[in-house]
Amino acid sequence: MLRARCGWQALRCCSSLPRAVRLRVREALGAREPADEVKVQGWVRSVRAQKEVLFLHINDGSSLENLQVVADPSLENRDLTFGSAVEVEGKLVKSPHRMQNMELKAETIRVVGPCDTWLFPLKMKERHPLEYVRQFPHLRCRNNTLGSLLRIRSEATAAIHSFFQDNGYVHIHTPIITSNDCEGAGELFQIEASNEARESAEKTHFFNVPAFLTVSGQLHLEVMTGAFTHVFTFGPTFRAENSQSRRHLAEFYMVEAELSFTENLQDIMQVIEDLVKTATSTVLSKCPRDVELFHKYVAPAQKTKDRLEQMLKNKFVTISYNEAVEILKQASQTFTFKPEWGCDLQTEHEKYLVKHCGEVPVFVINYPYDLKPFYMRDNEDGPQRTVAAVDLLVPGIGELCGGSLREERLPFLESRLQRLGLADTYQCRVWCPKKVQDRNNPDCFWTAVQNLPENRYLDLRKFGSVPHGGFGMGFERYLQYILGVDNIKDVIPFPRFSHSCLL
Ligand code: 4AD
Ligand code: MG
Repeated sequence: MLRARCGWQALRCCSSLPRAVRLRVREALGAREPADEVKVQGWVRSVRAQKEVLFLHINDGSSLENLQVVADPSLENRDLTFGSAVEVEGKLVKSPHRMQNMELKAETIRVVGPCDTWLFPLKMKERHPLEYVRQFPHLRCRNNTLGSLLRIRSEATAAIHSFFQDNGYVHIHTPIITSNDCEGAGELFQIEASNEARESAEKTHFFNVPAFLTVSGQLHLEVMTGAFTHVFTFGPTFRAENSQSRRHLAEFYMVEAELSFTENLQDIMQVIEDLVKTATSTVLSKCPRDVELFHKYVAPAQKTKDRLEQMLKNKFVTISYNEAVEILKQASQTFTFKPEWGCDLQTEHEKYLVKHCGEVPVFVINYPYDLKPFYMRDNEDGPQRTVAAVDLLVPGIGELCGGSLREERLPFLESRLQRLGLADTYQCRVWCPKKVQDRNNPDCFWTAVQNLPENRYLDLRKFGSVPHGGFGMGFERYLQYILGVDNIKDVIPFPRFSHSCLL
């Protein structure tokens, strides 16, 4: 980028310099003035040789649009094919075509890397289905759809970071390797050193205790919110869910925030709503052409564009879990899972609720106490006891975000742990998969945690504890939502899911 900017500056100040100035395709297309001695590098997206003239289209990933190169047919050579990497030098001139501003009149064309079009899985001018290009994780980024997706993903990442930084949050790098199972669902990938290293470590665990890839940075953010008030993290997250579904990955990115001095679930919901709206407006304004490709060609029937416009204009709807169950019970639709108070909402239920509310984002709040992890705050609301939990459901996806107020009151947390029979060793049952809960096994996390000199999670409630809460948003599900992409595997550069880890 820096190089490109320098190049552009040089072009403006010293256009008489003898050496060609290197421009990115995006810069060449957006140039206001013609320029001599310009160099563009990229990959050939089309070659068309006519009697009098040779046309090339070059793309270098800086924009969806290609740069048209016009050349004398004598510059054509055997290696100049679709997919080859080229370096073109010549003059940047105003294009006679209405649809494009500038084109490059080539003086030299150098093929940097040839491409065997017979073997190359992408074909010129073909619109390959997403399922087809998924087979080629090493090449699919040269396809228009994936190119647009990855530019949008990059802008959305920056927009999310800016949202939090602009609102006074401190970014925390929460660890990828952890000794806890934050969600208590046991969907953990355990990690160990390779065999060779393990032998030299005399068959002990590398970290002395079993270690896992993180399922959530929440626990570490709860630590940090005790000093910085507002914190966030945005990083890779891992779940060993044996799922081939269109909304689950084994490795995905989660955006998580934690806020201290927060007593009201509404405050958490407001941050979620502001985040979704701000990030979406930024992406729509920064990558209009890339987004248009999805809304026009990938998911035209879903009317994603209209839905997003509605979403940006209106307040998100809020219903309680109790109301949600009533709506589902009265539905004329038959569900595979019968809706009952106390049971988790299934994807089919979530989709129905979103449809019922008019295909808009819906917050569902106050879930049953026994349904949610131990850290969620008790609402103390009688026999049908609930916790201050919130899920955000969105059209086409279902659950996009999950969050809650945290149980900051030590007696409540202790009595909940007592209820679960985990008073001394809550970390073991709550943070540990069932299979490593054997007290008598010396390798077991239970033993390791029991022997800790202090209970760190409860400590946080002893030293300056404040009401706090937070949430997590699945980044890939967010991209699916704003772009209308059906399968989560198509919104991440290298998808990892059960039975598949290509490249
Ligand atoms: O609802 P979850 O499990 O919440 C937590 O992990 C909390 N500890 C977050 C917090 O409060 N800091 O996950 C949050 C979101 C889900 O709503 C979903 O969008 C996404 O993460 N998610 C997945 N995305 C892709 N593949 C998977 N296997 C996912 N599991 C969860
Ligand atoms: Mg959840």
